[in-house]
Amino acid sequence: MPALHSMRLSAQVLTLSGKVAQRHAADHQPQRAVCRQPARQHHRLRVQAAQSSAPSASTNGSGTATTQSPEIEAAEVEAAAADARQNGSPSFSNMKVYGLQEENWEKAALSIVVVGASGDLAKKKIFPSLFALYYENMLPQNFKVYGYARSKMNDEEFRDLIAGSLTCRLNDAGDCGKKMDEFLERCFYQAGQYASEDDFAALDKRMADGESEQSCADRMFYLSIPPNIFTTVAACASKAASSKCGWTRMIVEKPFGKDSESFQELSAALYEHLREDQIYRIDHYLGKELIENLTVLRFANLVFEPLWSRQYIRNVQVIFSENFGTEGRGGYFDQYGIVRDVIQNHLLQILALFAMEQPASLDAEDIRNEKVKVLKSMGQVRLEDMVLGQYRSRTTRGTTLPGYLDDDTVPPNSITPTFAACSVFINNARWDGVPFLLKAGKALANKAAEIRVQFRHVPGNLYRNKLGLDLDKATNELVIRIQPNEGIYLKVNNKVPGLGLRIDTTRLDLTYKSKYQATLPDAYERLILDCINGDRRLFIRNDELEVAWEKFTPVLKEIEDRGVQPELYPYGSRGPVGAHYLAAKHGVRWGDLAADDE
Ligand code: NDP
Ligand code: BG6
Repeated sequence: MPALHSMRLSAQVLTLSGKVAQRHAADHQPQRAVCRQPARQHHRLRVQAAQSSAPSASTNGSGTATTQSPEIEAAEVEAAAADARQNGSPSFSNMKVYGLQEENWEKAALSIVVVGASGDLAKKKIFPSLFALYYENMLPQNFKVYGYARSKMNDEEFRDLIAGSLTCRLNDAGDCGKKMDEFLERCFYQAGQYASEDDFAALDKRMADGESEQSCADRMFYLSIPPNIFTTVAACASKAASSKCGWTRMIVEKPFGKDSESFQELSAALYEHLREDQIYRIDHYLGKELIENLTVLRFANLVFEPLWSRQYIRNVQVIFSENFGTEGRGGYFDQYGIVRDVIQNHLLQILALFAMEQPASLDAEDIRNEKVKVLKSMGQVRLEDMVLGQYRSRTTRGTTLPGYLDDDTVPPNSITPTFAACSVFINNARWDGVPFLLKAGKALANKAAEIRVQFRHVPGNLYRNKLGLDLDKATNELVIRIQPNEGIYLKVNNKVPGLGLRIDTTRLDLTYKSKYQATLPDAYERLILDCINGDRRLFIRNDELEVAWEKFTPVLKEIEDRGVQPELYPYGSRGPVGAHYLAAKHGVRWGDLAADDE
């Protein structure tokens, strides 16, 4: 904890959150006119957007390299990172790790604006990630952070507010408190309305003052706000607060629409103010360590890629479960439901990375081209291949866990699903006939996210009579455990040591915490850093989303039109029974529910 902030924090943060909440309510006046640009200019920007999204684009038009540096030797990279941590100051090593240009690192100022700075995500993820990056010396030398929202606060109050959520979880070399104070001194707050160009102009002036010592400044905006004001903010910020000589990029949070139509509207509205290369659509699952490792696992190991097809794989399961409900986010959640909240984005993105063909290079556009291709090959999601559930309350040992409908922010008769499972097929030569099962649920028995690859039975297995009657239990299964306890393991059959011949199914286990000492970075750290570096590999391109919505929109409409009732399941259970029938229909068993899977 920092000397300056440690003692006063807890008390102040508590009272301040109360004050902020009151002001918050008072400040929520209806918004005034939306920032608009003249029609002629819209057209020009659209043309630019179309051009810039062409796969061949390799720079962002701002002078910063957009491609990673795959040619950098791994050892060199590691040494550079270690060097950067030890030196305690931004150095050439840092740039080498991430392919930054020395010139920009030293000379340009970087202003980071968190729009919606008073909100939940900003507090939980964005500011802690920015601090972690600062602590690891990953931010350029001349950076400043500006919080922007309607709530009234001065810089000191803002610093107190965010200080409460910063942690020294990284390998603290004993200087974390000092670093925290240094970081907070670079944080400023500007109150303003989201639809006011004047208020963004005031922010612009404030940033310009902070940037005046450098010849040029880059600006990154993180839109951590409700989706209905994304375009208003994009309009005002780009008109009144864009960088004059450097780059301007905007990270846009999900949800990107509710269906194909609203997505197209949002997309067109964003293109009125931003080019594709300025828009960073975030899906934080892509920033998780194990997801980034997926391509390494597949394409840097001889042993996996040849197995990665219908020839050897029986089915693939992508599973997300949370052991808590929608507490606190019921208002948002009820409008979206679990399919839009998790399956259509996080799980589908994982599926695309898992199933895509090898890209021509590690360049963002090559990877995203392959993701789009595989998503296009996927069949439509159909209602008959889907199971929906909603958690109900449950009383155990005198404690009652609330059901979804007990949340005050949820309408009394809501049929919004908090659980969904579906099966999809990818109709290409590699995956024809292989069921991909996607499952996501809230208020289940445990918190986990994983990919399970179940392999086919060994043909003519010599040890068949030793493996028991249920051969499914004895087939190889590769599990990529995204969280918690990150790791990869492969279930294999093995002779139990000793005399005689007994075979059991055990694991070749790469559990990260036993193998690697390092604390894993949060997904938001990686993604914010990538945006600063202009690396769009882990961000979603517009056409990926277009296809993702095409696959899900008809079934979502059908669910809503027919008022499909979700199957109720108790809070803390394994979910609706229907999910087992869905899997069984394809001859599959959920790997996470298998008795031997602890
Ligand atoms: P919040 O509801 O906390 O909103 C962020 C800020 O926006 C608020 O502090 C408030 O600031 C302003 N705001 C809230 N409601 C309105 C409104 N109706 N009109 C105008 N301004 C409003 O959102 P989160 O921080 O939870 O999420 C931000 C974005 O990130 C959303 O798009 C969300 O879907 C996405 N997201 C959030 C996650 C999370 O865990 N929270 C996870 C993944 C994505 P003020 O009143 O001071 O202006
Ligand atoms: C968000 C969803 O995108 O991801 C939330 O909106 C969900 O409903 C969250 O809880 C899960 O993220 P993580 O990183 O905690 O698994």
